[in-house]
Amino acid sequence: MRELGFPETQVLQQLNLKLERDLNFESGRILGSMCTLPHPIANKVILKYLEKNIGDPGLCPATVEIEQDAINMLGDLFDLRPAYGSIVTGGTEANILAFWTAKEMAPLSITKPEFIVPESMHFSFVKAEKMLNLKLVRIPLNHKYKMDEKVIEKAITENTIGIAAVAGSTALGMVDPLEEIAQIAYKYKLYYHIDAAFGGYVMPFLGNTKKKLPQLSFSYPGISSLTIDPHKMGMAPIPAGGIIYTSKELSQKVKVAVHYLSGGKAAHATIVGTRSGASVLAVWALLKHLGKRGYREIVSKTMELTDYFVKQISKLDDYEILIEPDLNVVGFVSRKYPVNELANIIRSKGWAVSLFKTHIRIVFMPHVKKEHIDMFLADLKGI
Ligand SMILES: Cc1ncc(COP(=O)(O)O)c(C=O)c1O
Repeated sequence: MRELGFPETQVLQQLNLKLERDLNFESGRILGSMCTLPHPIANKVILKYLEKNIGDPGLCPATVEIEQDAINMLGDLFDLRPAYGSIVTGGTEANILAFWTAKEMAPLSITKPEFIVPESMHFSFVKAEKMLNLKLVRIPLNHKYKMDEKVIEKAITENTIGIAAVAGSTALGMVDPLEEIAQIAYKYKLYYHIDAAFGGYVMPFLGNTKKKLPQLSFSYPGISSLTIDPHKMGMAPIPAGGIIYTSKELSQKVKVAVHYLSGGKAAHATIVGTRSGASVLAVWALLKHLGKRGYREIVSKTMELTDYFVKQISKLDDYEILIEPDLNVVGFVSRKYPVNELANIIRSKGWAVSLFKTHIRIVFMPHVKKEHIDMFLADLKGI
């Protein structure tokens, strides 16, 4: 570090130059991310309220109330009134919180807790497994890339403390049979977490495009918590995740008391301490500004583009999609190249795609437009 700093303009210029190599969403070249260009209203809110630390809640009681309002609006999307929870840093934090809560809820007699999870789980589950000393019992996926509820029931042992399902899997955007799993969780009195980090902001807004998907609703009994990420399809800037619990008791299970804060005593039910109040306010502002209609419009465009891509790629002899998508995520393979090689070729043409063991993943986020997909398809044809 230099003794004497550079003038502001020079530092900003240096940054611009250095960052030229980074990809940005506006270019339309990022086809494999579950994040997107944040909505302008969220950017304004973030800039204006950047100083707020909701980790010291006594300093910002109004922000605390607004967070509760945002959580209620999110809960309402899934027929949960009132809802409990927090706006956190992302899906990873939300999932870890859910597993932690489940562990705290489990009978003390269970010393080797097991959690039943889908093979399609996000890697944050593995972080939770390591941090919380759990054993994940992985349920293989059926031919539709979903968990089978009958297999789940067979996997329950005296050490099982919970089941997690996914609504919008990381690799393919598939939705597990949520209601059937809820019935099992209810029957065996197990904690049931739904990871809707991606699908949470898609499924309630499918409207006319609605496919035959499981209902994502708290109206049937058995669900304990839900992850929903505003910084994915919610159009919020990073970081913004959400954890929603069905009861106050669950939402308080992992609370830790803090005594020294300048706003007075508090209790944290999140993993991070200092926490962005601006992120919370941005999530609230987006829900208020876009409303259901706004989100429906966003989702309907991304679903139209997904369908368009599926139709177009199906016309190409050299490619094949893995499965008809549930949401705005498509996995495909080439008949000519193994996936690793294909990913390298595609990336060498300037496209950022996700590579999974079995396929290449495209996520049709709001920043991806038809012109980008047409260019991408043209490149695929030339491979
Ligand atoms: C289904 C699912 N859950 C959780 C996460 C983790 O979210 P984050 O990266 O915001 O921690 C992801 C990320 O892609 C995801 O796809």
